[in-house]
Amino acid sequence: MGLSDAKLKYFADYVKKEIGIIYGPEVYFQLEQRLEKIATYLGLTSAEDVYHKAVVEGIVGDFKQYLLDIATNNETSFFRDPKVFDAIQQFLLPALQKDHPHAFSYRIWCAAASFGQEPYSVAMLVHEFLKKNPNHPRIEIIATDIADHALKRCKEARFSQLEIQRGLSAIRLVQYFTKDEEGYWLLNPEIKKLVDFKKQNLLDSFGSLGTFNLVLCRHVLIYQDAEKKKEIVQRMERSIVSKGYLVLGGSESAMGLSTELNQLAEYGAIFYQKKT
Ligand SMILES: C[S@@+](CC[C@H](N)C(=O)[O-])C[C@H]1O[C@@H](n2cnc3c(N)ncnc32)[C@H](O)[C@@H]1O
Repeated sequence: MGLSDAKLKYFADYVKKEIGIIYGPEVYFQLEQRLEKIATYLGLTSAEDVYHKAVVEGIVGDFKQYLLDIATNNETSFFRDPKVFDAIQQFLLPALQKDHPHAFSYRIWCAAASFGQEPYSVAMLVHEFLKKNPNHPRIEIIATDIADHALKRCKEARFSQLEIQRGLSAIRLVQYFTKDEEGYWLLNPEIKKLVDFKKQNLLDSFGSLGTFNLVLCRHVLIYQDAEKKKEIVQRMERSIVSKGYLVLGGSESAMGLSTELNQLAEYGAIFYQKKT
């Protein structure tokens, strides 16, 4: 027999409190499947055992990280929503220096990096942009996520054939990747070194990250309730320099969440610019 709804709600409430992701009763079956996986990681036999451990010992240490990792959806791909990347290439990267001509460097933040396809897509564009503009100041890329297993994949920069086929052009594959003996594709160090990774919960303060000229926070706000969405966007806009940019996912919008951002549409993509 499966876990009762009351016990599943106990975990759903915990996940919502820690990282904001909402598991409603309609997806409790998913949560239960994920708890069964955690049982295996923890050397237990069932989701019921996981519940017992949580109640008796608390959700701490590796148990906590397994639960939060497993609660996240890490769906991603290279150059996901190509129009956004056209806009980054054609409009947003050139705008960095136009908007702030005297800066010594510029900073980009990918706030939900998943397995790395998004920050590395940005890094390829940055690399190509700097090659064409050799006197342009440095562009730093920071990528963050809450899930340890995702950050581990980011740092490895090693992708399966299937992951490569999702969004990466043959030209960039040849240019930036080499195949290892197991048939996985390794990103070349020249691109890999452009991105720094850090663990960051979007519900926590962004103070330690500094400020940014461009923030990508894509396909992650959809998992948050209205109050948290607003709270995250408002803290994020405080991390963006004046005239800096925020890019959200295709189904996400900052309208109604912020009075400090103007909506722009360029190269078929919608994004936001912080008011001066
Ligand atoms: C669906 S993926 C999106 C990845 C990428 N931004 C894209 O658009 O392809 C969402 C990512 O957000 C991360 N995430 C979810 N909740 C988070 C939170 N509270 N703080 C930080 N990252 C979170 C997940 O671990 C996951 O890797």
